[in-house]
Amino acid sequence: MSNHAHEKIEKNVGLMAVLIAVAVSFGGLAEIVPLMRQAEAIEPLQGVEPYPALELAGRDVYIREGCYNCHSQMVRTLRFETERYGHYSLAGESVYDRPFQWGSKRTGPDLARVGGRYNDEWHRVHLIDPRAVVPESNMPSFPWLAETAVDGGDLADRMRALQRLGDPYTDEQIEQAPYEVQGRSELDAVIAYLQGLGKHAPRGG
Ligand code: HEC
Repeated sequence: MSNHAHEKIEKNVGLMAVLIAVAVSFGGLAEIVPLMRQAEAIEPLQGVEPYPALELAGRDVYIREGCYNCHSQMVRTLRFETERYGHYSLAGESVYDRPFQWGSKRTGPDLARVGGRYNDEWHRVHLIDPRAVVPESNMPSFPWLAETAVDGGDLADRMRALQRLGDPYTDEQIEQAPYEVQGRSELDAVIAYLQGLGKHAPRGG
């Protein structure tokens, strides 16, 4: 480009803004478009299925209570991360997460691999009163979860919405959902969700 043309662009803010937008868009497209076609980013990892009813209810509670404000769910590809948490996160693990819970804010530990690390009873005590099991914890208590029942009808509607978005729920699974969660508290649901996190992750660091 001649010096003259360059001068014209630099002196015209509007034109410069448009050209910057064009340049950035090309960069963005070059990064994003190939990802959309890459099987490993859009296909579920082997064994990964849409959340069972109770876990899905728990995921909704997790989002409602803002657990993501303190917990990420993405193990990065760094040695000290994989040694602490386990195998780094893979895109195919979260194809049924809408919206995904990767995050980066870590007031508490990453939870992507927390499934099976503790038993249900530990989680029960911890969520009702974190200080009862981790004395120095500054995690808030969530005692109301134990007193609130999961709303099965609402859950079935949400599964239907996910089905419409392409999640392979069968009609039978959706019809069964209210029965599956009958008599279960939101605490049961969150624990089921936590225990399922990372269960399809490859083994090892
Ligand atoms: C204000 C920040 C904050 C919020 C909000 C929060 N946590 Fe925590 N969480 C922590 C901290 C700090 C720890 C580490 C200390 C402990 O274990 O209590 C922790 C620990 C945990 C652990 C144990 C993880 C491990 O590997 O030891 C689990 C499970 C957990 N939180 C789940 C939840 C869930 C579920 C919610 C939402 C209902 C939630 N947290 C909300 C801060 C938070």
